[in-house]
Amino acid sequence: MNTSQTVRLGVLGCGTVGSSFCHLISEQSDEIERRTGIRLEVSAISVRDAAKARPGIDSALLTTDSHGVVSNPDIDVIVETMGGVEHTMELMTSAFAAGKPVVTANKELMALHGPELFLAANAAGVDLALEASVAAGLPFIRALRESLVGEDISRAMGIVNGTTNYILSQMTEHGASYHDALAEAQRLGFAEADPTADVGGFDAGSKAAIIATLAFGEAVRAGDVHIEGIETITAEDIANATRMGHVIKLLAVVEQTDSGAIAARVHPTMLPDSHPLASVRDSFNAVYVEGTGIDQIMFYGRGAGGHPTAAMMVGDTIDVALNKLAGVHRSVGELDAATIVPIDDSVSAFYVSIDALDQPGVLADISGAFGSHGVSIRSMEQENSTEDVARLVFITHEAVESDFRATLEAVSELEAVKNVGQVLRVVCD
Ligand SMILES: NC(=O)c1ccc[n+]([C@@H]2O[C@H](COP(=O)([O-])OP(=O)(O)OC[C@H]3O[C@@H](n4cnc5c(N)ncnc54)[C@H](OP(=O)(O)O)[C@@H]3O)[C@@H](O)[C@H]2O)c1
Repeated sequence: MNTSQTVRLGVLGCGTVGSSFCHLISEQSDEIERRTGIRLEVSAISVRDAAKARPGIDSALLTTDSHGVVSNPDIDVIVETMGGVEHTMELMTSAFAAGKPVVTANKELMALHGPELFLAANAAGVDLALEASVAAGLPFIRALRESLVGEDISRAMGIVNGTTNYILSQMTEHGASYHDALAEAQRLGFAEADPTADVGGFDAGSKAAIIATLAFGEAVRAGDVHIEGIETITAEDIANATRMGHVIKLLAVVEQTDSGAIAARVHPTMLPDSHPLASVRDSFNAVYVEGTGIDQIMFYGRGAGGHPTAAMMVGDTIDVALNKLAGVHRSVGELDAATIVPIDDSVSAFYVSIDALDQPGVLADISGAFGSHGVSIRSMEQENSTEDVARLVFITHEAVESDFRATLEAVSELEAVKNVGQVLRVVCD
């Protein structure tokens, strides 16, 4: 770090996030200097195509040589906004080895290799800051790593994917079908042409792994997360949920059991209207954290977008730069592999819709199947779908997943049962 306290930044990538980051630094550098005593200066920006037009970006800073940026001795901090996994991991590891802290927005990489990267940063005595990798526009990771580090967190539940929240909000508020809501999200640029990563829950799954790792201080990886997407949610499911005083949200849920094992799941979830997460609409994100001392805290804000994401990365950059000047860094400690609760052993309340003949004794048979598997019914509603078939909608009390699945198997074998339909997990009041 040179004596004038100018901190030189090497930015990897100049797309949606990288270009917003560079713009924000040029707009805010005077104010940042006034308030922190350091001057942030973008010294090099690596891209795939240096000839592409990039409004407001100094083309003299562009290079296609990312390794050259990382190894340049005049660069103090690396800001990674290029995405990707193996190549990016190599660049980040080289940056640590060269004594440079890294700021990243890369959830995919952090969910796959976060524990190794934290270890490498720690061994090099530098920071790895990742605020923008989860719910990018809200300062939640910082809270987990700093304010809440001494808190006994029992559960965190997040709406951490803006695309799916937008789709489900459209379905809830305008009665749109899943396909129409997805098409509208694509038209507005909230969803990719191939929406699988979002609607299939994989993007939220990466974020769940990162949240679990930092909330519980153990290594949880993308592959440890049970993932279900929103593709099967119908307008009828939404209408049923609304009638029962609930909304359907795609939640990332991470929990630590009394034995210390960790459950990490992403799935569409029914939430009571009164739950704070139920009012998080459109493409907004929120994370709701429960712990012994704090009771509950909720973080709310923009989950993506160039400017909100860049704003968090600027904050991280100031932090890591000040730490580097002070000769300190923030560690996440040793991350042992977490014991993961298999999905069959996880506990939740459930919603299920069942079509059955509208005859005396059928309800008793179905209720009996629930009871004989130890699954207790919290509420039941009936509507007549056709003259002789009734649709029964159940919400259970909390039950072990495998007991609930065995119940459904037994129910589906009853002669009077015509169809076992949608199953959703339910968060109780
Ligand atoms: N977009 C968001 O709202 C958001 C929010 C939170 C986190 N993130 C994360 O931020 C990262 C970047 O997202 P983005 O939306 O900004 O992506 P993007 O618009 O596609 O930008 C990627 C940038 O990286 C450059 N790049 C890609 N591969 C490269 C390589 N091998 N060598 C050099 N440069 C390379 C591209 O160069 P060219 O311009 O020459 O193609 C481009 O400038 C991802 O990890 C993403 O998950 C994004």
